[in-house]
Amino acid sequence: MTTLTGPTADVDAVLAVLREYLSPTPPQLSLPPGAFASAELYALERERIFRRGWILVAHTDQLATPGDYLALDIAGEPVLLTRGHDGLPHAVSPVCRHRLMPLVEPGEGHTRDLTCPYHLWRYDLDGRLIAATHMRGNTAFDPAACRLPGFTVEVWHGFVFVNLDADAEPLAPHLSVVEEEMTNYRLDDMTQVYAWTEDWHCNWKVAVENTHENYHAIGFHPETVRPLMTGGIDMDVHVDGPLVTRLLTPAGQPMDPGVLPLTSEERKVLYSFRAFPCASVATFGETIAWLSFIPVAADRTLVRGGALMPRALVDQVGPETLRPPLEEFTVRVNEEDRQGLEAVQRAVSSRYAERGHLSPKEPGVLAFYRSLARALTDDTD
Ligand code: FES
Ligand SMILES: [Fe+2]
Repeated sequence: MTTLTGPTADVDAVLAVLREYLSPTPPQLSLPPGAFASAELYALERERIFRRGWILVAHTDQLATPGDYLALDIAGEPVLLTRGHDGLPHAVSPVCRHRLMPLVEPGEGHTRDLTCPYHLWRYDLDGRLIAATHMRGNTAFDPAACRLPGFTVEVWHGFVFVNLDADAEPLAPHLSVVEEEMTNYRLDDMTQVYAWTEDWHCNWKVAVENTHENYHAIGFHPETVRPLMTGGIDMDVHVDGPLVTRLLTPAGQPMDPGVLPLTSEERKVLYSFRAFPCASVATFGETIAWLSFIPVAADRTLVRGGALMPRALVDQVGPETLRPPLEEFTVRVNEEDRQGLEAVQRAVSSRYAERGHLSPKEPGVLAFYRSLARALTDDTD
């Protein structure tokens, strides 16, 4: 018997349902509940999505100085991002080549080099081995050939993306339409005023599908996000290819002019885009918020994000004035989403859980399901 619910959901049955979203008349239904709980599907997502997808992990302000680093797990794979002494960003595997000791704990920090705590082998920030203690007697060991495996890192207008595939195709071409449309936001002149990292007890797709609709603003965010949507909760969805979807929310009243050279048309839209699998970048007037939902386990998600403002504004007004209200707002909105989505996750294994009908206000959710279906049913390895 095939099952579509709970941790034992049959992965082939879930994939068969996913293929339906690729038809010209996709079902207006939510994913099978088992898609949010199945350990087997999560294993497939690790292989087909997170081992080769572009994952947004930071803003470049968080890796500004040589020696700055960020260590995290991406779907079970430890990853270390550094700003090297060469001034370039690097992404490497932080697992010691001697006997598997992690070189750093997950988190952000600053260091001159990477010294393994176990037997003190030392690596440069780009992954080259600098020194290995007491190894001269082992003639089979070639220090010059020993280095930390590298991943691919790409910085797109301040957003730091990493790809676990060392030979990944570049990300930027996928974002060409967004790049053109966001010219007046002057992303390169934005500075990060506030950043956050949270641990949500829900499947990564529960969090990502939520970012593809404004519909939930009436339920989760009646006093925070909903009042910003002066033109209503509908959004225009534009799918630009397998990775990028633009979600545009018309504003009822144009936003006030500020320091950015936005046209009157641009001030009538809350512009945002999603980069599959798990990145979200959204504008709220001249403030930009980014979010990334990085799976840690089938029911745990690392949520990283930040809020950016034009550097000219921050210099003029001062970060000490701009940050507190932004932080207060962001903490509240994140808490509203976290509490709601963790409650959803607790329900996905109910024996009565089944697929639900989608509202016409959720075309973005269907766009996400199609990207997901394409990625998971592509078995060209
Ligand atoms: S495990 Fe790193 S030096 Fe031994
Ligand atoms: Fe939300």
